[in-house]
Amino acid sequence: MKRIPEPFRIKMVEPIRITTRREREQALQEAGYNPFLLKSDDVYIDLLTDSGTGAMSDQQWAALMVGDEAYAGSRSFVRLQETARDIFGYGFVLPTHQGRGAEQILFPELIAQTGHSRPVFISNYHFDTTAAHVEMAGGQAVNLVKEQAFDTSSDDLWKGDFDLVRLQESILAAETGQIAAIIITITCNSIGGQPVSMGNIRAVSQLARQHNIPVVMDCARFCENAWFIKQRDPQYHSATLPDIILEMFSYGDMLTLSAKKDPVVNSGGLCCIRDDEELYRRVSVRCVPMEGFITYGGMTGRDMEALATGLREGMNEDFLDYRIGQVAYLGQRLREAGIPIQSPAGGHAVFIDARKMLPNIPASQFPAQALCNELYLESGVRGVEIGSLLLGRDPVTNEQKPSPMELLRLAIPRRVYTNDHMDYVAEALIAVNVRADGIKGVQMTYEPPVLRHFTARFKLMS
Ligand code: F0G
Repeated sequence: MKRIPEPFRIKMVEPIRITTRREREQALQEAGYNPFLLKSDDVYIDLLTDSGTGAMSDQQWAALMVGDEAYAGSRSFVRLQETARDIFGYGFVLPTHQGRGAEQILFPELIAQTGHSRPVFISNYHFDTTAAHVEMAGGQAVNLVKEQAFDTSSDDLWKGDFDLVRLQESILAAETGQIAAIIITITCNSIGGQPVSMGNIRAVSQLARQHNIPVVMDCARFCENAWFIKQRDPQYHSATLPDIILEMFSYGDMLTLSAKKDPVVNSGGLCCIRDDEELYRRVSVRCVPMEGFITYGGMTGRDMEALATGLREGMNEDFLDYRIGQVAYLGQRLREAGIPIQSPAGGHAVFIDARKMLPNIPASQFPAQALCNELYLESGVRGVEIGSLLLGRDPVTNEQKPSPMELLRLAIPRRVYTNDHMDYVAEALIAVNVRADGIKGVQMTYEPPVLRHFTARFKLMS
């Protein structure tokens, strides 16, 4: 596969250091065999997340200097508002401190307007904080991504799509007003950064509109999703990315955006509403005490400037060709070496199928966590477990919830690592794969009651 050269040159560098195997053994032991608890100085290449870890452009850094820090009515807010209206076509724009800030001000209001005692949100797949905010607001989070998403060896091009048959059944089975919203997650992070097709977005929206159900676009990676539509759907080969994006959002009623991904800022988010002024007013009332006044919502003026610039730059096709090409290159190198990955590779990350790579480790011993540790020990590369450990226990029965997949996610920060870094990562995993049979599972020695994956501690199985 041809590597796509970086469409930028590097103006500033941050030194990183390869540690020795002995140093890594000690660091991981001190971290209780949970890479979340490592110090970043002990990590050589950090693929924990693509969130807030990107390198801003010179234009974004320059934009910081013109930030207007007025508490109310900041001109940086006005610029951000205009940019967001233009890109998404939604009239009401609220800045938030990050994506989950948008979730926490919107979801309780969507529930309140149902008036139902057992409200439900349906998504292709809720991201973990999204599911947490649904549940904290008193709702139930249901995932209806299509079955092929769970077959990592299938090369289905649209693994993020909803299963439309089950969606229709669920809508018909629900009581009137019970479904508070349908959340379309683009791209679908939790099942592998997989795109949702335009046809599927359109069909979901039609169903929702027939039944008066609001549609929320959870759009952290909307530029990547639009790029996949342009590449994979012949109908859109000659469309521009801004036009594809406008069409995607025309099928939604509101959006929650984590600006830490595609718009490449270190923190920030948006909650936008198309035209429901009444809902906007109620969400604004919640925004003030929880996020901040409606013209800053937890962001500084300078950060709103950098976000306005990043929203436009994120749609640049040369950048996206390189960006998604870099992820695909890493995926291809792993596939060539016989390492099972969620195929095709996602937009922001490569997900390794640990159940297939380490078939001897049962789910109760967290195979993807074991693989994550092993990769770190081999190379200083940090990934993250997306499987049984992340999923946790059923709050009612306290039993481990059965996880459809055991994945190790290697998320690639934007514009941060070179293709040579990708080769280093690939070679480390290939070396780990050679001795896969000898890798042991892990056992929890400390289990926090909620969101346990962040702070749990483990020991190696003997
Ligand atoms: N929705 C999706 C699809 C996400 O991937 C994330 C965050 C959020 C919402 C929440 O946004 O972090 O700004 O509050 N995903 C990060 C990740 C954390 O590592 O995938 P946030």
